[in-house]
Amino acid sequence: MTRYSSTNDTAESDLQKEYMEKAAVYVDRLADTLGRRPQCCVKTFGCQMNARDSEKLMGILTQIGYQPVDKEEDADFVIYNTCTVRDNANQRVYGRLGFLNSLKKGKPHMKIALCGCMMQEESVIDKIRTSYRFVDLIFGTHNIFKFAQLLVTMFENREMIVDIWQETDQIVEQLPVSRKYPYKSGVNIMFGCDNFCSYCIVPYVRGRERSRDPKEIVREIEALVDDGVVEVMLLGQNVNSYGRNLDAPMSFAQLLGEVEQIDGLRRIRFMTSHPKDLSDELIDVMKRSDKICRHLHLPLQSGSDRILQAMNRRYTKAQYLALADKIKNAMPDIALTTDIIVGFPGETPADVDETIDVVRRVQFDNAFTFIYSRRTGTPAAAMSGQVSEEVVHEGFDRLLKAVQDTAKERASLLQGQILDALVEEVNEQDASLMTGRLSNNMLVHFPADPSMIGRIVPISLDICHGFYYTGHMTTQKDG
Ligand code: 5AD
Ligand code: SF4
Repeated sequence: MTRYSSTNDTAESDLQKEYMEKAAVYVDRLADTLGRRPQCCVKTFGCQMNARDSEKLMGILTQIGYQPVDKEEDADFVIYNTCTVRDNANQRVYGRLGFLNSLKKGKPHMKIALCGCMMQEESVIDKIRTSYRFVDLIFGTHNIFKFAQLLVTMFENREMIVDIWQETDQIVEQLPVSRKYPYKSGVNIMFGCDNFCSYCIVPYVRGRERSRDPKEIVREIEALVDDGVVEVMLLGQNVNSYGRNLDAPMSFAQLLGEVEQIDGLRRIRFMTSHPKDLSDELIDVMKRSDKICRHLHLPLQSGSDRILQAMNRRYTKAQYLALADKIKNAMPDIALTTDIIVGFPGETPADVDETIDVVRRVQFDNAFTFIYSRRTGTPAAAMSGQVSEEVVHEGFDRLLKAVQDTAKERASLLQGQILDALVEEVNEQDASLMTGRLSNNMLVHFPADPSMIGRIVPISLDICHGFYYTGHMTTQKDG
């Protein structure tokens, strides 16, 4: 049963809008003292869900009078939206906090806030309270919608404000959002995860799975399209189980069917899929759609049945291979990408061989390879057979080589084709080129004018440079 209610959403959003007005008064006062508009910097660590949350934070910050800047050095208010999926993300936050402390010493009015997944861990909060006392505000993943209210509390108090909830049944999505890109946007369709893969901390820090009402999702996308968006990325930890807990249950494939009908929307992407829940219905909807992009991110994690079982992934190597085959047979032009973990407790070089075998057989277009990170509180952290660093690195290097070989081979297959690209931005290295994204997520660089940004144009893929193409705009289309 869903506990979601859009009436609650409206009431809570109205309340937060009142807090935004109050916060704006404090920001105005600061502007008077500084003799300029105060500046804010939001840094995002981690996944697309966090990136979307940061857009919400920025929406509120700009509304109350802050001006966004890229660098912490230039900011009067710095917010770190953190990730805790792997320990190296945590370490980066601690490292940068030291730097923020030195900035704040030269700028006493400076405020520092921390939020996101890392803040849902008690040990992190203890450490910040004792060793990083200069932080002004800490909140978590469940009460991010209360940001405006928390800002007012922060402005009215001198001591550190800590507000972490263990869970929530609220979904508040009617607040201002400051989008990074005018032409594309993430859209949350669900929150949390119920899968409890044994290595993963997400279910503990993001809570139980909750799906948004499909009507709200469609309404949000319609508003985005009215505002110039042509591509949406539907976001959830496991989009394939979307809708199961709604009052009127519906499948992810059905949701896609509804989103597809939105006039003016040109492209639909989604992330992330769990192989165990990927239905034939979804493959069929994708196959028949000309809006759903030809890209599926399908985390494998391991190719060894023994490790998959210990990971609680609930599929076997053979099942994954069969699924990949089925998808590729239905859509030969689809790009498959994946996530793989090396060094899970008990993993041997023979297990890595199994994973490499899957990489070679599936021919992934790209794979994100991670070294296993022990997360306190997860079942895997207590498992015996933690793998030595040396063995992990040996396996990681072998896997990376296999991944790069197949990705290169896959990329080269597009040579000479003419495919539609969404023109996204000016090329970072060469301002005479624009960077576009193909339906299968590959990037192509080509001469064009920045006025083309946000348009979808046919591009001839002339030269493959390993993982991307250079090409030129053309009026012709293939086939
Ligand atoms: N260690 C290493 N990688 C992890 N991931 C999740 N948890 C861990 C962990 N403890 C990886 C998985 C997941 C991706 C988002 O992060 O591959 O798909
Ligand atoms: Fe973590 Fe598994 Fe949920 Fe993905 S599906 S967020 S890996 S528990």
